[in-house]
Amino acid sequence: MPEFSTEAQELVQRIIKRYPEGKQKSAILPVLHIAQAEFQGWLSVPVMDYVASLLKILPIEVYEVASFYSMFNLKPVGKCVIEVCRTGPCWLMGAEDVVHHIEKKLGVKEGETTKDGMFTLKTVECLAACGSAPMMQVGETYHENLSLEKVDSILNEYKTNTKEHISHWDKKHIKK
Ligand code: FES
Repeated sequence: MPEFSTEAQELVQRIIKRYPEGKQKSAILPVLHIAQAEFQGWLSVPVMDYVASLLKILPIEVYEVASFYSMFNLKPVGKCVIEVCRTGPCWLMGAEDVVHHIEKKLGVKEGETTKDGMFTLKTVECLAACGSAPMMQVGETYHENLSLEKVDSILNEYKTNTKEHISHWDKKHIKK
């Protein structure tokens, strides 16, 4: 069974203690975020089973939550996860063109990862930046008012940057 690092285990225990005995399930979202950050940006079945054991709940209860939210990845992802908003306002402002442009540029279809393991392309529902549509999120960063030229320069920037942008959340955001 996978195991969190010591630091993550301490963090998880602190989060679980915020809730009354028997209500550990309430900690599921932050714990899944930690799991995703700890295990290369995605949640395998063994990782979800591990989370279930920590929260003393059934594995199916973890699968249900993890598969509901697009912020959780259920298969391996690239170093940069690109999430293009496809909801109405972004769609009206050209999100479809953005998706097709990225697909062509990276040689992948929506939901796929480039062969070099650099980029994963996803489409997601509204990311609450409708006023600056079309937009996409890469890791934790929002890129708004997109044009195809802007998309090109953003992708080039990530190509030359070795930092990983696999999760839009990081352990550092949890209050100690
Ligand atoms: Fe795209 Fe809201 S519709 S951010």
